Amino acid sequence: MQRDRIEWNQKYRREAFDHRPATILKTHAQNAPMGRALDVACGNGRNACYLAGLGFAVDAVDIALEGLGRFVCPPDGIQRICADLDHFILPRRWYSLIVNINYLNRRLLPVLQAGLAPGGMLIFESYLKGDGRTSSGAHRAEHLLAPGELHQAFKGLKILDYREIPSLQPKAPAMKAALVAVRP
Ligand SMILES: C[S@@+](CC[C@H](N)C(=O)[O-])C[C@H]1O[C@@H](n2cnc3c(N)ncnc32)[C@H](O)[C@@H]1O
Repeated sequence: MQRDRIEWNQKYRREAFDHRPATILKTHAQNAPMGRALDVACGNGRNACYLAGLGFAVDAVDIALEGLGRFVCPPDGIQRICADLDHFILPRRWYSLIVNINYLNRRLLPVLQAGLAPGGMLIFESYLKGDGRTSSGAHRAEHLLAPGELHQAFKGLKILDYREIPSLQPKAPAMKAALVAVRP
């Protein structure tokens, strides 16, 4: 969406973002079958770079060119794709690993599931609706998961782990949902 593109390009110009990969990736990504990975809404590439370091060939998609231009590693083994995920078409049964961290686009939930190759792994972590404590309007209500929603959305996969956990990020919503699942 154009509004997201403008807002996120501005944020990447004026704010510094974490360079460290998400903890959930460090715990689980090495258990996915090696092959092609998709980083959904990759931002500055902190997660895509980690996956490339493990040996995955990574497609890293984001709407904000400014984020893609601030990648935290040389983009070897990473295809950076500037695209709006509201309209992005994913190949079916293609990816060994799909990661979606700190981003929610409900249109994509069934699309991500279909994009996993048999045996492929999904790692998904994003913010939960909760006590209303959000950062300065940066998290719009439609971008927050309901309790249990992520588990329900991926019930067609084999869910290895599902948690609702404190986010530990001072400016973000207090809670996150985190899911690790594989396509049977
Ligand atoms: C909170 S950041 C998370 C970035 C990354 N996943 C991470 O964990 O560091 C959300 C990202 O979603 C991207 N984004 C927002 N709306 C988008 C859209 N419609 N299509 C593609 N990317 C989008 C933003 O540009 C931003 O990089």
